[in-house]
Amino acid sequence: MDARELRSELELPPERMRALVDRAMDRIVRHVESLPQQPAADVEGAAELARSLAEPLPEDGAPFEELLALLFDTAVPKSFNTAGPGYLAYIPGGGLFHAAVADLIADAVNRYVGVWLAAPALAQLEANVVRWFGRIVGYPEAARGILTTGGSLANFTAVVTARRERLPEDFLGGTLYVSDQAHHSLQKAAMLAGFPPANVRVVPSDEAFRIRVDALRRLIAEDRDTGMRPFFVNGNAGTTNTGAVDDLVALADLAREEGLWYHVDGAYGGFFALTERGREALTGIERSDSVTLDPHKSLFLPYGTGSLLVRDGGALRRAHSVRADYLPPMQEADDLVDFCEISPELSRDFRGLRVWLPFKMHGATAFRRALDEKLDLARWAARELRKVPGIEVLAEPALSLVAFRLSPPGVGGERRDELNRRLLSRINARRRVFLTGTLLADGYVLRICVLSFRTHLGRMEQALEDIRAAVGEVSAG
Ligand SMILES: Cc1ncc(COP(=O)(O)O)c(C=O)c1O
Repeated sequence: MDARELRSELELPPERMRALVDRAMDRIVRHVESLPQQPAADVEGAAELARSLAEPLPEDGAPFEELLALLFDTAVPKSFNTAGPGYLAYIPGGGLFHAAVADLIADAVNRYVGVWLAAPALAQLEANVVRWFGRIVGYPEAARGILTTGGSLANFTAVVTARRERLPEDFLGGTLYVSDQAHHSLQKAAMLAGFPPANVRVVPSDEAFRIRVDALRRLIAEDRDTGMRPFFVNGNAGTTNTGAVDDLVALADLAREEGLWYHVDGAYGGFFALTERGREALTGIERSDSVTLDPHKSLFLPYGTGSLLVRDGGALRRAHSVRADYLPPMQEADDLVDFCEISPELSRDFRGLRVWLPFKMHGATAFRRALDEKLDLARWAARELRKVPGIEVLAEPALSLVAFRLSPPGVGGERRDELNRRLLSRINARRRVFLTGTLLADGYVLRICVLSFRTHLGRMEQALEDIRAAVGEVSAG
């Protein structure tokens, strides 16, 4: 054969490509089908396993089957079963299989969507996804947005955009306001955006874990009195601790009065706006200047997809546009977007396809129905928990998260915290569900976050069975 046409070993022939996908698919399907039977978490011996896998750069290749076995038989099982129906910890999502197929397509075609000219039609598909998100939260047509790797990067981009819009080049006098229930990524965003940690004012929340707007107003006034420049306020559309939704209307009013950039962190809760009950709970979100939404949470996508929407799309561009001679011309028409012009990234994956494919295949209705089911399940869980003697539910779930604790009469403070930590480990030891806890102002609580598209009533009943049994165990000493 002509040496000029020889394939390198990295260029796989068709039959080899098929074999790779077929063999991987065989493992994947078996894995996904067995998710409900797998433990909700299994990390016993995982640290030793992790250390045993440290290795030098391999010079030579190994058989694919061997590598698949290492992944599926050894590495994957020793982890939290984040894709399974029993994962009610932190903020689940599950990981839609369609999105994995979309990733395979996107990676195999490997087109460049950061620059419009390189793949106009594909950039349009991603722009459609962003527009759909805008519609979901009630943003105007002029809104623009980006898909990020997650909520943290979305919050960071929001802070940077707000800083550029509302503060001078010398911005160190700018102050930001978040509640004591806000996700720590906002603190991190401010730090990465160059603000001293003390410029982030932490506003107390009320007994329902919602930001105290009166306290916020006072803090802003105090800061103005001392010559600081209040410029950014965050509203929570579903807190990580308890799922609380701030009064998004009152915050919108205050932000307008005070001339602040109004950001809403809807990483967990924002997509509930697809449902009627969610839209009601999130009223006011449509008045924000920017909003973070995490498809890898409440659209059930695999990890790696967040998003930021900005009401005035021009603000995103003003904050991010930097030109270079080696780049092609950027689009000036309003309906065409160069994502590199409105985001921190240039080269990146075609992450829009991951959202586009499942939405196109099922329509928004399927997502709405699944989210409605999560709202029902959380309410059901709160009702059932209240029937368990000694259990205190901290607030009616605003969305799909319930925080609770065992609070026997006469037991408080550290003793109650310790009791609840034991309760958590007894529940999780049964391995049918995996819950996590958190610390609120008056102590340690457990939380159930129902958000995986794979979680249904059957698994919730198991959760309640395990909670009742664990309460019996810890109460008996
Ligand atoms: C309310 C909220 N905001 C932001 C984030 C950060 O998102 P990510 O983990 O995608 O960076 C989270 C993560 O759980 C969250 O719950």
